[in-house]
Amino acid sequence: MAPSLWPGWAKAVVLALGCQQATAACAPRFSFENAELTDAALADIAKQDASSGALLGFGEDADSASASNKPSPSTPKCKVFPGDANWPSDKAWKTFNASLGGALIKTIPLAAPCYNNWPQVRDAAKCQQITENWNSPRLHIEDPTSAQFPIFQGRTCLPTDDPTQNCTLGGYASYSVAVTKVSQIQLALNFARNANIRLVVRNTGHDFADKSIGAGALSIWTHKLKDLEYYSNYQCKKYKGPAFKVGAGVVTEEVYAAAEKNGVVAVGGECRTVGIAGGFVAGGGHSPMSTLVGMGADQVLSMDVVLPNGRFVTATEDSNADLFWALRGGGGSTYGVVTSVVIAAYPKVPVTTMSFLYTTGPNVTADTFWASIGKYFSYFERFTNAGAYGYFLVVSIGPGEFLFNFMPFWGGNMTAPQLTTLVTPFLNDLANLGIAVTPNITVYPTFYQAFNGSWAPEQVGAPVGHAGSRLFPRENFVDPAKRNATVAAVRYAIEAGGVLVGYNIKAATNPKVNQDNAVNPAWRKSLGFFILGAGQLPNNATDAQIAANAKVMTTDWLKRWRDVSPGSGTYQSEADINEPDFQQSYYGSYYPKLYKLKQKYDPTGLFYAPTAVGSEDWYITGQIPYYPTQNGKLCRK
Ligand SMILES: Cc1cc2nc3c(=O)[nH]c(=O)nc-3n(C[C@H](O)[C@H](O)[C@H](O)COP(=O)(O)OP(=O)(O)OC[C@H]3O[C@@H](n4cnc5c(N)ncnc54)[C@H](O)[C@@H]3O)c2cc1C
Ligand SMILES: *[C@@H]1O[C@H](CO)[C@@H](O)[C@H](O)[C@H]1NC(C)=O
Ligand SMILES: *[C@@H]1O[C@H](CO)[C@@H](O)[C@H](O)[C@H]1NC(C)=O
Ligand SMILES: *[C@@H]1O[C@H](CO)[C@@H](O)[C@H](O)[C@H]1NC(C)=O
Ligand SMILES: *[C@@H]1O[C@H](CO)[C@@H](O)[C@H](O)[C@H]1NC(C)=O
Ligand SMILES: *[C@@H]1O[C@H](CO)[C@@H](O)[C@H](O)[C@H]1NC(C)=O
Ligand SMILES: *[C@@H]1O[C@H](CO)[C@@H](O)[C@H](O)[C@H]1NC(C)=O
Ligand SMILES: *[C@@H]1O[C@H](CO)[C@@H](O)[C@H](O)[C@H]1NC(C)=O
Ligand SMILES: *[C@@H]1O[C@H](CO)[C@@H](O)[C@H](O)[C@H]1NC(C)=O
Repeated sequence: MAPSLWPGWAKAVVLALGCQQATAACAPRFSFENAELTDAALADIAKQDASSGALLGFGEDADSASASNKPSPSTPKCKVFPGDANWPSDKAWKTFNASLGGALIKTIPLAAPCYNNWPQVRDAAKCQQITENWNSPRLHIEDPTSAQFPIFQGRTCLPTDDPTQNCTLGGYASYSVAVTKVSQIQLALNFARNANIRLVVRNTGHDFADKSIGAGALSIWTHKLKDLEYYSNYQCKKYKGPAFKVGAGVVTEEVYAAAEKNGVVAVGGECRTVGIAGGFVAGGGHSPMSTLVGMGADQVLSMDVVLPNGRFVTATEDSNADLFWALRGGGGSTYGVVTSVVIAAYPKVPVTTMSFLYTTGPNVTADTFWASIGKYFSYFERFTNAGAYGYFLVVSIGPGEFLFNFMPFWGGNMTAPQLTTLVTPFLNDLANLGIAVTPNITVYPTFYQAFNGSWAPEQVGAPVGHAGSRLFPRENFVDPAKRNATVAAVRYAIEAGGVLVGYNIKAATNPKVNQDNAVNPAWRKSLGFFILGAGQLPNNATDAQIAANAKVMTTDWLKRWRDVSPGSGTYQSEADINEPDFQQSYYGSYYPKLYKLKQKYDPTGLFYAPTAVGSEDWYITGQIPYYPTQNGKLCRK
């Protein structure tokens, strides 16, 4: 950084940042959150450079009745796109970058070093390194723009050994802001809103529908917001107990490690690299701890958030309470940019896991195999009532041949004898079906050690990878006829080439925290969350093949899952981008309320993500049915 090169007002913005702000939260703000953009700093910019000042100014207050808050008939139908006459000039981008203290990054696709058409970064050794690590989420989360499901980016710049192909930005944002201060988030929101540029929020890029990317967008990259603070005795309103304040860029394994260090356990998923304060809480968040203490979003005690108008607020049960409700389950990139959350933690728990696998074989026919799946389903309620969480795989390994694998069965807060007593009737049922298994039971003194012993970093980045999912209500497992229908619907998809990654899970009731939030009500009634991997395609599949494959999954395989669970829904963060009636499916009966809050807090439509609340008011140009990408202009319907 070379401050002497910045205009004087840019320095003023950066310097105006240290002042402490009063806050309604029960934990002090992080220092990066005290670095707020002030009206005085903006006035200073405007004095030096009126047109830049106009591009960086705050929007109207959310509660203001001002007509300027709503899109007027003269509002352009589409967000401006690179090459459009209204796209900000190079000078405007320079000025914006200076106001940010130099944090603006022009997008270079992650795999660009593999391509001749990026001579400035072309590097065969680097290309090889990227190619070798492409399936590691860690490679992608260190990059400002890359997402983990390249299919929705348009597959425009994948690793290749043919450097003569063209690497283009596809669905990736045009620019990112590597934010380290709240003022930079405020400036980015103001700039995108005033210049009518598409905005995206990018944390780790783990969302199954790539909700963190968008062609021609300005991206707010939250990865560097790594502040993490432990409170051994956090007191706020009704809550008293251990808690963490978690910055927007902190990932699951970092929170778990801090919890281990402090003798407590926090609620996160089984994936090491998902962002806790970002998409995990925003989507609802399912966890191995959910069967004991509820959803990830249920744990939130307070959050700090920059609103679409650029203002920075705290949301709690009694400060911006409607926003606090919506941000816990109502979806990411919809109501603002969350800078941190405070989440409850719990005294540490031991964990006992069990793993085993079995397949069809000489003594186990396909029908016997599927009868065993029905047996497992019949224990779903008993297992979750005991606090267990089951994570399992069902896949076809040849015509009429199948495999079941626990990865693992997870006994949270359970000793080995407790787990053995719990699972023995199920193992006896398997034995009666002629299925002999050898359970591998492992006892861990803490959650963290069980997590570390059970789950390696997952694989991402498959060029044509695509999945869908369904939440199955309690009655699908306790009612024998519905259970059989559920087994049949699952069997159909697996026989046809799908892959089931299943969770036997429930959202436990927990009086210690506030569970009145926007988490999809279907979670509260379900005992099974099943993810379905689409049929395998070769990496060189054509767009038409991808579309046809996706259509089969949505309109046949998942339709059968929907048909046996009417009125339920699914988990918005791990869902089929083509889900019909996503409003009902992802948000249930809360959708109308969430939509109203969207109009209140984001009347100009600054925030958009595919299948986010209010996204039905927009479309992306140039789309192929059943193969939507973020590679097009974003326009209002
Ligand atoms: C391999 C794998 C395993 C997974 N395991 C689990 C699991 O066990 N449990 C579970 O619940 N989920 C799991 N998920 C899903 C995961 O929780 C979601 O994809 C989640 O949305 C990721 O959030 P993120 O912030 O890390 O990623 P991103 O994809 O970057 O963000 C997700 C969405 O949130 C928005 N967003 C991100 N940060 C912010 C912010 N600070 N303010 C406002 N909006 C923001 C983004 O714009 C985007 O719309 C898994 C996903 C993968 C790929
Ligand atoms: C923003 O400024 C920094 C520091 O001067 C510079 O390194 C960076 O390349 C600039 N970004 C863009 C997009 O020009
Ligand atoms: C790459 O793009 C250039 C310029 O648009 C074009 O001339 C060339 O044919 C393209 N190459 C390939 C392999 O698509
Ligand atoms: C199949 O069953 C027979 C008779 O019960 C038994 O001898 C044999 O070991 C079994 N095979 C397998 C693979 O379990
Ligand atoms: C774990 O079990 C103990 C004793 O049975 C109980 O006091 C504690 O609340 C449980 N912890 C959780 C997180 O359920
Ligand atoms: C049992 O599971 C543990 C934990 O995953 C693993 O370390 C161990 O190797 C397994 N043992 C056998 C015999 O598979
Ligand atoms: C995590 O697991 C790995 C092996 O899988 C082991 O080497 C490492 O020591 C473990 N870390 C902790 C903190 O338990
Ligand atoms: C469910 O299927 C099993 C076979 O897997 C069968 O024995 C049972 O009668 C069926 N139950 C109902 C209610 O259809
Ligand atoms: C994909 O590659 C395989 C061989 O590698 C080839 O047989 C097939 O025709 C290719 N498909 C397309 C659509 O190019």
